[in-house]
Amino acid sequence: MAERLQKVMAQAGVASRRASEKMILDGKVKVNGKVVTQLGTKVTGNDAVEVNGKLIEQAETKEYFLFYKPRGVISAAKDNKGRKVVTDYFSDIPVRLYPVGRLDYDTSGLLIMTNDGKLANMLMHPRYKIEKTYVAKVKGIPTNDDLKHLRLGVKLDAKHKSAPAKAKILSSDKRSDTAIVSLTIHEGRYHQVKLMLEKVGHPVKKLKREKYGFLTLDGLTAGQFRPLSHNEIRNLEKLVEGKRF
Ligand code: URA
Repeated sequence: MAERLQKVMAQAGVASRRASEKMILDGKVKVNGKVVTQLGTKVTGNDAVEVNGKLIEQAETKEYFLFYKPRGVISAAKDNKGRKVVTDYFSDIPVRLYPVGRLDYDTSGLLIMTNDGKLANMLMHPRYKIEKTYVAKVKGIPTNDDLKHLRLGVKLDAKHKSAPAKAKILSSDKRSDTAIVSLTIHEGRYHQVKLMLEKVGHPVKKLKREKYGFLTLDGLTAGQFRPLSHNEIRNLEKLVEGKRF
């Protein structure tokens, strides 16, 4: 995001904001090769700022977005097979963003994108138990026993059992023998939702993440994103606050 030149200079450790203003007025500051003496001038991380002929290293401002990842996109900054990646949607944002966790290539839904590595790592850490709600279209119609099994925990492999989860059927269709299931988990093992449903006999045909903590996809369609509000960022920090490691 664009910031005032004196703020960018102060954040880069050039001088205090007041002293930076004086340097601007004295004609010691260039933006993209041109002397700038206007105090309100705004710059982004893409602008070259020189002070006394020396390029400054800009401290990146922290950015946070809520992205509705479409199906058929990789949750990474690049893909060696040349497939579409989530960062392709953010090419106009002048900071390097990465996803908080990952959704499978064929899974759609809510993904937070940020350049705040510290918060991202905390949100991804299993100890904070952040709830994520998925909606899955599955083969067959789960029985009450299947739901109970999902709620109590499913053996995923020789070593791991899923933690207690919330599971309910949203709708079912006898004709196509499919159901729409809502599953809320706080873990994030590889293919966890697909594995859990597969293990109870209902392989996933389609998967979408609808909620991450208190965040929802409301107002967005696949491929769209919006910045998180200050309040939302604060509330995300609160989810991991006091639990620092
Ligand atoms: N669980 C899965 O199986 N896939 C996802 O993309 C997310 C959770």
